[in-house]
Amino acid sequence: MHADWIIDYLQGQLQRQGQSTLSQQVYKLLREAIARQQLVADTALPASRMLAQALQIGRNTVLAAYDQLLAEGYLYSRPGAGTFVSPAFSSLGQPTATARGHAGLSQRGQALSEQYRLPTGLTGAFAPGLPELRQFPHAVWQRLQHQHNRQAPSHWWHYQQEGGLPALRQAICTYLQLSRSVHCQPEQILVVQGAQQALELTARLLTDPADQAWMEDPGYAGAQAAMQAAGLHIIPVPVDSEGLNPAAAPPDSRPRLVYITPSHQYPSGVVMSLARRLELLQHAEADNSWIIEDDYDSEFRYDAQPIASLQGLADSARVIYIGTFSKVMFPAMRLAYLVIPPALVDAFRSAYARLYREGCYAQQAALADFIEQGHFARHIRRMRDLYRIRQQLLRSTLQQAVGEAIPLSSGQAGMHLVASLPPSINDQQLSQQAAREQLWLRPLSRHFLGAQQRNGLVLGYAGVEDNDIRRSALRLAQLVEPLL
Ligand SMILES: Cc1ncc(COP(=O)(O)O)c(C=O)c1O
Repeated sequence: MHADWIIDYLQGQLQRQGQSTLSQQVYKLLREAIARQQLVADTALPASRMLAQALQIGRNTVLAAYDQLLAEGYLYSRPGAGTFVSPAFSSLGQPTATARGHAGLSQRGQALSEQYRLPTGLTGAFAPGLPELRQFPHAVWQRLQHQHNRQAPSHWWHYQQEGGLPALRQAICTYLQLSRSVHCQPEQILVVQGAQQALELTARLLTDPADQAWMEDPGYAGAQAAMQAAGLHIIPVPVDSEGLNPAAAPPDSRPRLVYITPSHQYPSGVVMSLARRLELLQHAEADNSWIIEDDYDSEFRYDAQPIASLQGLADSARVIYIGTFSKVMFPAMRLAYLVIPPALVDAFRSAYARLYREGCYAQQAALADFIEQGHFARHIRRMRDLYRIRQQLLRSTLQQAVGEAIPLSSGQAGMHLVASLPPSINDQQLSQQAAREQLWLRPLSRHFLGAQQRNGLVLGYAGVEDNDIRRSALRLAQLVEPLL
């Protein structure tokens, strides 16, 4: 909505003889427009003087409404530039549960849409999960894409049903065998549109509604959504220094599915110990349950000894391994893969074809060449070096500014660090306060599913330039210091 439309909208809605004050009405109407996404992120609001004149109300009335929206984080202001809609809040603000209920959603639909929504599409410090896209070899990628679009055989324009382009499945298989010690053959690879789709497909095919699923606590909201969509009964299982701890699960629980991120637990960063991996594999064999191993960012390991995948540890037929190109290439690529136990390959392929359909072989051919020609390995090596330096910069800047007051996770791998906060600091309030200045601090407490919660901040550094890391880390320290 443009500034002119904001004035029209308020003019049409304000009730001059209404029960609530004009300032309350302006506040409420703007808040609702933000929540409904009629006012989108970074929209400039009319200057208070201009709005007051147009509506023929006092300027203080407008200022009071703006101040309240600023205090609650719906708006942010830039000195000299004006007042704008906050990106964090325009994507968080959702219709109320009651409104959704009236819209006729199923219980599952309500549960899915009621979930706290992490703002997406944010860039800059410290938006988690974003790779450095400015240094992606765009020219090479575009050349390969053009080449394969031009040369695509006519049958590539139809639906496909091979589980992914054979050349890409072969390239992925070789890569996984060599770098992740995964036990696989190309036939076991199923190429899909993102890890999220892989999670949903797996949950649907291996469970029935109301089955139990163990989720890491704290854990990945995307996996939780996939389990919810499959109608599963989610059991949060606490993560300790060795990863998900089966001994901490309710004694009588019998999961059909266990979701884990053993190489780099999301979000805590813990690497699952060998003993824990073996314990989980034994559980799965004994209980006939399935393990989903989500290996989403293990390419970025900074210590000498990369840990092999859990799938490759034992020739377990009970592990579904999932990897994604979102972090090593770019998130909008929407390409990921599953490694499926041989006995399930046909079922997964045909269910995938029925539920989602297959295609995009020209893009897959470009990716196969990108891997085969060495661009992929080179890009990973370069990004690994870059991310290591950025992590170090974030760590040293924060440590110099606040010492050990906010301990940081070990950072052996991945693209983010977790800063622990004392219980007295409310991470959600801090995150809202920072969002007003376009500083993205994802609250750790939002990742907890069970009763136990810890306060902290998930700080993505991979896609943030050095200057921004330094400046934003100092600002974060300034925000935290008075609260310590
Ligand atoms: C734990 C985890 N798994 C998977 C993904 C990637 O999912 P996708 O391939 O759907 O982009 C992410 C992205 O943030 C993640 O954090």
